[in-house]
Amino acid sequence: MTSNPYPLGLRLHGRRVVVVGGGAVATRRVPALLDAGADVLLVAPELTPALRARVDAGRLHWVPRRFVPEDLDGAWLVHVAIDDPMAAASVSAVAAERRIFCVRADDRTAATAWTPAVTRHGPVTVAVLGGGDPRRAMTVRDAIRDLLAVRLAPDGIAGRPDASTGTTGGRQAGRQAGRVALVGAGPGDPELITVKGWRLLTEADVVVADRLVPGLLLDELRPDVELVDASKIPYGPSRAQEEINQILVDRALAGAFVVRLKGGDPYVFGRGGEELLACAAAGVPVTVVPGVTSSIAAPAAAGIPVTHRGVAHEFTVVSGHLAPDAPASLVRWDALAGLHGTLVILMGLKNLAAITATLIAHGRSPQTPAAVVQEATTGTQRVLRSTLGEVAADLRAADLRPPAVVVVGDVVGALDG
Ligand SMILES: C[S@@+](CC[C@H](N)C(=O)[O-])C[C@H]1O[C@@H](n2cnc3c(N)ncnc32)[C@H](O)[C@@H]1O
Repeated sequence: MTSNPYPLGLRLHGRRVVVVGGGAVATRRVPALLDAGADVLLVAPELTPALRARVDAGRLHWVPRRFVPEDLDGAWLVHVAIDDPMAAASVSAVAAERRIFCVRADDRTAATAWTPAVTRHGPVTVAVLGGGDPRRAMTVRDAIRDLLAVRLAPDGIAGRPDASTGTTGGRQAGRQAGRVALVGAGPGDPELITVKGWRLLTEADVVVADRLVPGLLLDELRPDVELVDASKIPYGPSRAQEEINQILVDRALAGAFVVRLKGGDPYVFGRGGEELLACAAAGVPVTVVPGVTSSIAAPAAAGIPVTHRGVAHEFTVVSGHLAPDAPASLVRWDALAGLHGTLVILMGLKNLAAITATLIAHGRSPQTPAAVVQEATTGTQRVLRSTLGEVAADLRAADLRPPAVVVVGDVVGALDG
């Protein structure tokens, strides 16, 4: 007779879990065990490179030999991740003798514990058992994951504290906790937002979006979400920034979860730092979710790697919004001209003639390959290939417009066949 499994959430922090086997199955199982804080002992004559890297990093213990019963001393759980049914059966027999639950990759019916298909959403973990059929479990898990990510934003998920990187500030207990997430939306293709950024967006009460944010992301917001178009805020640039800071703080202090959605990465010429400081000064907790920056993605979308073995060992990202001779410019264009590597210039179209002339005047060859990538990763992407000496004139002739990234360096032709 088969009975239903009894679901449990094992709290493995600091507890010994033995994994027998060092191949593909172990490679997939070990990260979740480490994430749970388990004290993992890996028993296997050989390891995959991924497991070896974790051993080298000191994340787990490895005994490079076959299993012996003493390996289960002090263990709370054992994962058998080997193909050989005889060897697997002998491990599970030792485990049964010692009343240690045993997961078996080779034979689910002989196992005393099953691993579920899992989807994690911040502090919420959904684990699905498919009655012994892992495919069924995965299908159900995928459906739940999609629902949680796209359609549902229950208060229980949206209102929780977030333990991710870059969290700062704090509110008094007992008050409704508003907060802000600075989320990088990526360069243009709506699919280039991170999974975490997308999840937070679906949980937001208020979204404050920049001009360069992919429109399709906004299209999918819940109808009740307040959308603030930051590019429409009047006054000069610094006044507008103050206004945005104030909106973030006011809405969060009123209890809302505010997502500040910014093109590319929030900290790459994105003024994310100013927004974080404003929120921190008001005691509003902030989560920062990095994004795919156009400074790397735009060249990539045009077939240009920012580094390439034997071609460029460095890449420098620089803003061209001020002309090289502008008193307020913080860029040492003369020093940049002396570098051999890749130069990626953002916001540089208006001043491109002055920038290229300055680089050439300080020694960079006018023959250096150069490219301009406009509206990268979108359906309207355009790419111009030229040289440092010609690119400013070619740009005018081709009528390329912002947003665009200029790439200078031998990498521009590195992947040309
Ligand atoms: C204010 S900066 C913000 C950069 C952004 N935080 C990032 O990490 O990509 C705006 C500049 O980024 C570049 N940019 C942003 N999106 C772009 C895209 N899809 N294609 C080309 N350039 C882009 C352009 O140089 C534009 O003038």
